[in-house]
Order: sequence, then structure tokens, then C-alpha cells
Amino acid sequence: MEFTLLEKTTLYQSFSDLGKRIFLPDGIFYWSGRAKKEAELIGTIGSAFCYDNEITSDGDNEWVPCYLEEIKQYANLGIKDIVPYASIGGLAEFRSIWKDWILKKSGFDAESEKQKLDHLRTYISNPIVTGGVTNGIYMACSMFLNPGETIICPNKRWGNYDNIIVKNIGAQIKSFDFFKDQKINIDGLKKAIMQVKESQEKIVLMLNFPNNPTGYVPSHEEAQNLVELLRESQAQLGVPFIVIVDDAYEPYVYEEKGMLNTSFFYMLQELQDPIIPIKLDGLTKELLFYGGRIGFVTVGLKPKWAKNDKELEQLKDEINNKLEGFNRSSISNANHFYQKVAIKMFQEFGMDKIIQSRDKVKTVLSDRYKKINAELAKLDSPDISVDPNAGGFFLFVNLNKDKVKATEFADYLLKRYKVGVIPIEKPAENINGIRIAYCSIDSDKINEFISRIQKALVDVS
Ligand SMILES: Cc1ncc(COP(=O)(O)O)c(C=O)c1O
Repeated sequence: MEFTLLEKTTLYQSFSDLGKRIFLPDGIFYWSGRAKKEAELIGTIGSAFCYDNEITSDGDNEWVPCYLEEIKQYANLGIKDIVPYASIGGLAEFRSIWKDWILKKSGFDAESEKQKLDHLRTYISNPIVTGGVTNGIYMACSMFLNPGETIICPNKRWGNYDNIIVKNIGAQIKSFDFFKDQKINIDGLKKAIMQVKESQEKIVLMLNFPNNPTGYVPSHEEAQNLVELLRESQAQLGVPFIVIVDDAYEPYVYEEKGMLNTSFFYMLQELQDPIIPIKLDGLTKELLFYGGRIGFVTVGLKPKWAKNDKELEQLKDEINNKLEGFNRSSISNANHFYQKVAIKMFQEFGMDKIIQSRDKVKTVLSDRYKKINAELAKLDSPDISVDPNAGGFFLFVNLNKDKVKATEFADYLLKRYKVGVIPIEKPAENINGIRIAYCSIDSDKINEFISRIQKALVDVS
């Protein structure tokens, strides 16, 4: 957006550097707004939607945001659950439940993994409640980046990272090409690490699996290679590595075999090396509470940092104080009502039942994932390639930049074929393609959706 009038005012002149820098980019909103008005088939909406009767047997044919059936019971909570402030770091009961949830999600449930589970329980901070995962990203990045400092992120990343890191915090992003030969680009990441080390005495990196916009999830082998790369480069450079793991889509991995189906955080948390993982997760997508605005930040600790249990507790208190200080000075505290609803849901139904209900949604999404990938695989065009994807809400189709620009293609697709997608066109970062949010496309419409894309590709080639 241009601020032609605002810039002439004394209001603008009085803005801080942040006030001058910050703005709401119109990319996604522009394309989703147009899709709402112009499209018959919409693949722009980043929340999962389905028919109500796909969730509840007595549901009707209404197209609704996917939800957990249990939530219906809490529409009439008592005043004391709705009105009060939550504590600064979140309701104590909820933080403790979420810690158990993090343990559960590790999948360390075999007897042989008891030691790993104990280590995890002992060496993570008390999860602090933030205003959604977005606010967790803001907290984690603010805690480690001064203005001007650099964080490494893949070129294909959630666009809001740039708003938070560059526009809001005033830091920089060192981008690397995410994929090489359909695998994570370990060499590219290594180069980025080496370059960043030339200007700062710490490496900060943010990763997100399943990824937005690609749906990428590493295989076990790729995840292991990533760990090795981090260990080797940390040992070589001798500076701390902070790895922020954005787990917004954590449970939605649809390929069971060979893929990392637990958070990358758990692999990093086991390392003795000064590679410090920060876990960002939350209710938003995991438990389908999009508007609940509840996220968590959890820090992986190193045994070396405390000599005994007493010191460890003190260390956790000190970290908690820092993070609560951040909350207090930004959001003050997070939404009380949704914390209460989540507490009740966990207490009254238990984790297994919650997972079982969510699995209904996961199955709906997994079917769409299979269908859309199968349809895309049939497109026999040298001008497109689909990024590796095995989970999440989206996938990404790269377009040959010499044939068509992504924004022109999205515009054509919308006008001629009434199909809405989000184009991402960043020549400086080697990106020219479209993001398809299959999380909100009815399975029965996927064939038609891809067939229209195919027609548009033929038209522009
Ligand atoms: C990769 C990624 N991280 C974080 C978020 C934000 O999650 P929340 O709505 O909890 O702030 C999103 C939402 O689209 C996302 O795609």
C-alpha cells in the first residue's frame, strides 16, 4: 500500500522507525478477497473446512470450519470461566496440561524410550501461553534478534515471517533455496549458516514442518541429515545455534512411512551440543481453535546449564520470568475463555479422545492430499513442478518463470476459469508459483480444480 496522504502529515513524521516501517501487505488478502468474489473454486483459504456431517453424524450439509466435536459442549461456560484475566504466562493448569501434551506428542511411549521421555520432561521449560503461534514467533524472534541481526529461513516460508522479522523487529532474513532435487537443500542451508557467521556470533534459524506454503515434511533420513549438518557446523563455528521450530501444523502428516511424523524439536532437544530448540505450537490448527488465539513457546534446555535439580528449577524460573516479562510488555496475557475451554476438554475427554476426534479431520484432509497429488501427477507439463509435500494444509506448484509469472497466471486462472489460488512471485528468492490450500477445497471438487489449472497451463504455454 502507498501512504501518499499519510506521509505528508505530521502524524507520519512523528512515527517511530517501526511506525514508519510497518504495514499490512495485501498479497494474500488481495487474492483471497478476489477469489471470494470471482471464483467458483477457491483454494486460497488457509483454514480447514469441511461439511458438518463429515465431523458429526447428526451434522448437516453446511460447509463449516473443521472443529472438534467436543467443543460444542462449552458454548455456555459460566461467568467465572469467561470474564477474568488469565495469568501473564497463561493458566497454570493449562501450562501443565500442555507440557504433558508435548510429552505425549513426542511419541516416546515405548518402554525402551522411557529415558528419552524423562529427559524431555526434565529439560524443557514450562510452556508459556502466547496470543497464537504468530505471537509465539514474534516472542521467539524478538528474544534472539536485535534490529539488524539475521535469522536464516527457507525461501518458501509463511509470508508473515517477513512482516514480523523484517518490518516489525527490523532484523533481516537470510534466505536459502528450500529444495534441491526434491529434497531439503542441506548445502544451501550450510552456505547460509557460514555467511551469517561472518557477521554475528550466533546462528538463529527458523524451520516449519509441515511447511506453509509447500506441505513439505522431511523424511527420517533428511531430518537426520539436517541434525548432522547443524551439529557439524555448530562444532566448526563454536557459536550457539537457536533453532525455532514452528509446529503450527504439527499433527497433520499424511504419509506414515519414512516421514518424520513428530516435531523436529524432539530430535534437537536430545542433543547435548549448544543447539537450542524453541518449540512453537498451539491450539489454532492442532485443535482447530483458529480464533482462540492460543499458542505456546517452550524452550529446550541443556543438562550442562544446571548442576542439580535445585539449579534446574531456578533456571526454569528465570527463563519463565523473561518470557512473562515479554508477555506483560506486549499482550499482557492471552485469552482466558479459550484456555478454560481447552482445559475442560482435556480434563473431561482426555488426550486420546481428543486425538481420536481430530483424526476425523486428519482423515478428511489426508484424502484430499492424496487426491490432489494424484491429479497433479497426471499433469504432464514440463512447465510445472510440485514441491515435495506430505502434510499440512497446502501444496506449492512451481511455474516456469520464462513462460508465465505467477501473479499473471493466478489472475488469468481467476478471470478465465474462476479458480482462486495464492501466487507467490519473488524473483530475488527464486520463487514463481502458486499455493493451493486444499484444506478448504471439497474433495469432490479437486478433479475439476486441477483440470481447470491444466487448461490454464495449456493456454499460457
Ligand atoms: C507456518 C505458520 N506458522 C504460524 C501460523 C500462525 O498461527 P496462529 O493462527 O496460531 O497465529 C500460521 C498460520 O497460518 C502458519 O501458516
